[in-house]
Parts: sequence; structure tokens; C-alpha cells
Amino acid sequence: MLERFVVIGAGTMGAGIAYVAAGAGYVVDLVELDAERGRAALAGLHALWDKAVARGKLDAAQAASAKDRLTLRGSLREVSPEPDVLVEAVPEKLELKRQVLEAAAALRPRLLASNTSSIAIGSLAANLPEPASFLGLHFFNPVFAMPLLEIVVGDQTSDEARAHALDVAGRLGKDPVVVRDMPGFATSRLGVMLGLEAIRMLEDGVASAADIDKAMKLGYKHPMGPLELTDVVGLDVRLDIARTLQAAYGDRFAPPELLVKMVAEGRLGKKTGEGFHTWPAS
Ligand SMILES: NC(=O)c1ccc[n+]([C@@H]2O[C@H](COP(=O)([O-])OP(=O)(O)OC[C@H]3O[C@@H](n4cnc5c(N)ncnc54)[C@H](O)[C@@H]3O)[C@@H](O)[C@H]2O)c1
Repeated sequence: MLERFVVIGAGTMGAGIAYVAAGAGYVVDLVELDAERGRAALAGLHALWDKAVARGKLDAAQAASAKDRLTLRGSLREVSPEPDVLVEAVPEKLELKRQVLEAAAALRPRLLASNTSSIAIGSLAANLPEPASFLGLHFFNPVFAMPLLEIVVGDQTSDEARAHALDVAGRLGKDPVVVRDMPGFATSRLGVMLGLEAIRMLEDGVASAADIDKAMKLGYKHPMGPLELTDVVGLDVRLDIARTLQAAYGDRFAPPELLVKMVAEGRLGKKTGEGFHTWPAS
């Protein structure tokens, strides 16, 4: 029998997770409350499959069956119970994630996961009926291209859930790391610190955004500079993460004023066309 995979939130990450899950043979429900965003995400995913065919990475029949396996849903009420995997990918807000996860748990998924980039799994598990089947599945953007899957194991996560998560990683073609549950895990804690410091350096007039990025690419062999990466992730997403990490570790993660100002002005990076760099519409 085909296994079922549910993704909640069809933003940058949810859409990407749905794409790799459908590509790996799961029957996928992608749940998005905002109908316009949902339609845009579905159109974007179909275009991605068409592009993969045009580039010879998939044949037309594989792309057509992956498209058939993916269904957009306007509400969790439209989803059948007991899926194999359920991943929430709604914005990085503790209360919102708790509410969404509680509603998701009522479907009794075998594995319940959050794609949070920074919030401790333990604090998301607070009201869950079965915290043993809950953990973090932290994917990276763009999901189809990034090999890492960070599996975050909470104090209450069972060995069975951990093993299932490793299976899911293999099936999706991801290379996992398993980390202990602490805010920011192994990736965001380091990566966001670098991004925040780059923004403070821009505020201090150390160099232009382009040169700060160039310095890290050419001097440290980073494939992408920290400001460019902040644009790709989304300044709003990074601001939320910085606030979560500030609450956990103190003011070394305090968001720079420039970041707060740019988010207030709607300059969110690649998704709005402007951030630390200018991005053409894709
Ligand atoms: N952007 C990145 O590079 C990145 C990388 C790794 C992890 N993350 C994490 O993934 C999560 C999502 O980030 P994103 O960048 O995709 O955000 P996003 O803002 O692009 O997408 C979030 C989506 O969730 C939808 N949503 C909100 N409430 C909902 C609900 N109750 N039910 C269904 N849909 C709902 C929104 O309408 C939106 O479409 C966050 O926790 C973020 O920290 C982001």
C-alpha cells in the first residue's frame, strides 16, 4: 500500500518538502489555509517537475505520477487520519506551531514532525498526546537540492520514531544528522549567528553587502555569503529565529536594528525581490 505524507503550510519549505515526498513515492496532502498561496505553490511545484523533465532529470511519466500523488488541501479537516508521516512547516511562531501540532496530532500520524529551524522540540511537545512519536525534521532550502536533513530528537522521542525518521531521510534521498534537542540545533545556532554578525558589520560600514558575501565565499570557501543566504532564507524567517535564540541564549542573538527595519518595510529577501541584494522575479 502507498504510504501517506502530510505537509502543513505551503510556503517556501512546505512546498519543497511536499515536492521531494511526492517524488519519493509518497501520496502527499499539502495543507495551506491561504487559498492564493496554495494555488501559487501548486503551480510552482508543477513548473518544477516540468523543468526537471526538460532537463532530462525525470521522464514525463515519472513527473506526471508525482503530480498525481500530490493534492492541495484547504484545511486539515480534508485529510484522512493515520498518515505515515506528518510535517508541519508553518511560520516560526511558538503558539501557532503548538496549535497546528495539536490539531495535527488528532490525525494520529505514525511520525509527527516539525520543520522548525530553532524552537526546541520539547517546548513544542508540551500539549501533545503522544510526544514519543514527535521529533524535528529540519529540511533546508531549496529542499530538492539540499542534501542535509537535521533530525532533532527530544527527551520524550522514542527510539522507534528516531528509526522511522532515519528511514524517511533515506527514502527522500537526504543525508541526516541526529542532534540533541536544544534551541537552534546544530545548524541554525551557528548559521544564524554568522548572518546576524554580517548584518551588524553592514551597519558598522565595514564593507558593502556584496563584499561581505564575497569575502566569505572567496576567503572561507562558503558557497554563498551570509547576507545572500539570509535573503534566500527570508529576513522574516531569520528574525523569528533570532528572537527564539535570543530568548534561549541571551543577547548575543539580539536581532540587529537593520534586520528589524527591513522586515517592517517588507524587504524580506528573494521572495519579495529585495533584501540585502536585489533578486529578479523567478
Ligand atoms: N525559509 C527557510 O529557508 C527555512 C529553512 C528551514 C526551516 N524553515 C522553517 O520552516 C518553517 C516554515 O518556513 P517558510 O520559510 O516555509 O515560511 P513561509 O512563510 O514561506 O510559509 C509558511 C506557510 O504556512 C502557512 N500557514 C500558516 N498557518 C497555517 C495553518 N494553520 N495551516 C496551514 N498553513 C498555514 C502560511 O500561509 C504560509 O504559506 C518555519 O518554521 C521556518 O523556521 C525555514
